[in-house]
Amino acid sequence: MSADKGRKKIPRHVAIIMDGNGRWAAQRKLHRLEGHHKGSETVEEVVECCRDLGVEELTLYAFSQENWARPSDEIEGLMALLKSFVFQKREKLIKNGIRLLTIGQTDRLPEGVLKELTRSIYETRQCSTMTLTLALSYSSRSEIIDAVNQVLRNAMANEEFSKMVNEDEFDRLLFTEGRTPPDLLIRTSGEHRISNFLLWQMAYTELYFTETLWPDFSRDDFMKAINEYQRRERRFGKTTEQIRATA
Ligand code: IPE
Ligand code: IPE
Ligand code: MG
Repeated sequence: MSADKGRKKIPRHVAIIMDGNGRWAAQRKLHRLEGHHKGSETVEEVVECCRDLGVEELTLYAFSQENWARPSDEIEGLMALLKSFVFQKREKLIKNGIRLLTIGQTDRLPEGVLKELTRSIYETRQCSTMTLTLALSYSSRSEIIDAVNQVLRNAMANEEFSKMVNEDEFDRLLFTEGRTPPDLLIRTSGEHRISNFLLWQMAYTELYFTETLWPDFSRDDFMKAINEYQRRERRFGKTTEQIRATA
């Protein structure tokens, strides 16, 4: 009998597509940035919730590469919000043992944002209670293509054109560098799509969609997603009988 039989399984890694900030603001006749601001409060609450539950990794999709195509005032506002959020939450991250990481083409971020991020990443490097990864200027397709090009460069540099890579080696070339893949993906705001997020990593992730807009997403909503996850049977291609036999 496994150690966690009888105890409800907590996902080790939760990923979230935080969507619906703009619609939340529009419903209240507010500027879209007000929605992003309220959404940043949800981030803080969900981070606390994950830490309390014993989730080891939380990955938040905060800004996609495609989001660079939004109106410039929204991008400027989002970047200013990100910068102050990272600055203001640094001490709290350290106090709570939360390590900060990023994935994505962060060199495209404004210098001031990058500086705050780099500092928090450095100052939280020893934190081991939970890892919080922010996906910023992130595109899963670019990540995969960059890894393919890295394979080609390595092969050419070593003059080993016949060298093949296996899944584990390829996995280590991604931004996520071979870390544990998400067990559960939550997307808020009623959209049922992946929007170029962790395409490789989510091959066997459980997907959960809720109508709730991200600024309204509460601890209760998060627990609903966890409860649903706990009712799922992850089979990884096997049969129910095989899964039950090893549980
Ligand atoms: C998610 O909310 C935040 C980002 C993509 C930065 P949106 O800004 O996409 O909100 P909607 O989808 O327009 O409501
Ligand atoms: C996905 O949301 C990206 C983030 C949450 C950061 P979008 O609002 O950009 O996604 P689409 O365009 O509706 O697919
Ligand atoms: Mg959206």
